[in-house]
Amino acid sequence: LRFPNPLGMAAGYDKNGEVPDALLRLGFGFAEVGTVTPLPQPGNPKPRIFRLMSDRAVINRLGFNNEGHAALAERLAKRRRGGVLGINIGANKDSADRIADYEAGVRAFARQASYLTVNISSPNTPGLRALQSREALAELLARVLAARSETGATTPIFLKIAPDLVDADLDDIAAELLAQKLEGLIVSNTTLSRAGLEDLATAKEAGGLSGRPLFRRSTAMLARMRQRLGRDFPLVGVGGVDSAETALEKIRAGADLVQLYTGMIYAGPGLPGEIVSGLSRHAAKEGLASIRDIRGSGTERWASTKLD
Ligand code: FNR
Repeated sequence: LRFPNPLGMAAGYDKNGEVPDALLRLGFGFAEVGTVTPLPQPGNPKPRIFRLMSDRAVINRLGFNNEGHAALAERLAKRRRGGVLGINIGANKDSADRIADYEAGVRAFARQASYLTVNISSPNTPGLRALQSREALAELLARVLAARSETGATTPIFLKIAPDLVDADLDDIAAELLAQKLEGLIVSNTTLSRAGLEDLATAKEAGGLSGRPLFRRSTAMLARMRQRLGRDFPLVGVGGVDSAETALEKIRAGADLVQLYTGMIYAGPGLPGEIVSGLSRHAAKEGLASIRDIRGSGTERWASTKLD
C-alpha cells in the first residue's frame, strides 16, 4: 500500500463508513472505518462516552454499536474509489462462534478494503480480548487467512491489540504474527488502566480510556512489539497522539504509520492537517529525505519505559 502521509483516522470514529472521504479531505493519509460486526447491534445503554477534560482523555464503553456488514457494504459501494480505506472488523456480542464473525468480515470486505483490521482488543465486548491468548489467536489468524484465500483477494490484514498485556503475552502474539505471516499490527486500543488521572470521579466509569494518559503505555507497547517483530514488520502506532511532536515520538518508538481519535475530540478537525504539516516541517528542518528516517531511533528507550 502507498500512503500519501503516515497519519490515519483510528477506528471507532466512523463506525458505519459515512464519512471516509471527508476524513481524507481533512488531511488524513488514510481512514479506518468500523468496527463493523456481521449483524447490526445497538451497543451499551447511554451514557457510554465520558470526557475527562482535565486529563485530555475519554472513557468509552460503546460496545460495538454499528449497522452491520450489509449496511456498510452498501454505503461503501456507492463511494468513488480512491484513498487508503481500512475496514475494522469485529464480532457480535451474542455470537456463538466469534471467530466465524471475523471470517465473515473478511469475506464481506476483502474486495472493498485497502486493508482489514482484526480487532480483538475492545474492552467493551465481554471475553473478546481472550482471543489475544496464544491458542485462540493461532486459530483466529489461521481461519481469517484461510477465509481471505477463499476470496482470491490479497488484501493485507492487520491485527489490533490492547495495551494491557504483559511481556509473555507480547512474546506469544509476536510469534503468531510472524509464524502466520500477518501483514501488520496496530498498537493499541484503549486501556483499562486508570493510572495518573486527575478527574477521579469520571475515572470510575467502566470502559476503555483513550487520549493523553494512554500515550506512554501504548508507545511503550509499540516499541516492545517493534523489538519482537524485527525491522520490517509494518506497525501502526495509536494512543494519545495529539500533536506533531507526539506523532514523531510514535515513529521514533517504531511506528511506520500513526493513527489518532481522541486528540481530534479536543483539538477539532484542523488537527490532522496541522500534524501532517508539522511532520513535513520537522523533516525539512532536520534535512531528512523522509520522515521514515527517524523510525525506530527511540525503540530501545521506549521499550524499557517502566509502566505503572
Ligand atoms: C474507539 N476505539 C475503537 N477501536 C476499534 O478498533 N474499534 C472501535 O470501534 C473503536 N471505537 C472507539 C470509540 C471511541 C469513542 C474511542 C475514543 C475509541 C479505539 C481507537 O481506535 C484508538 O485505538 C484509541 O482511542 C487510542 O487512540 P487515541 O484515541 O488516544 O488517539
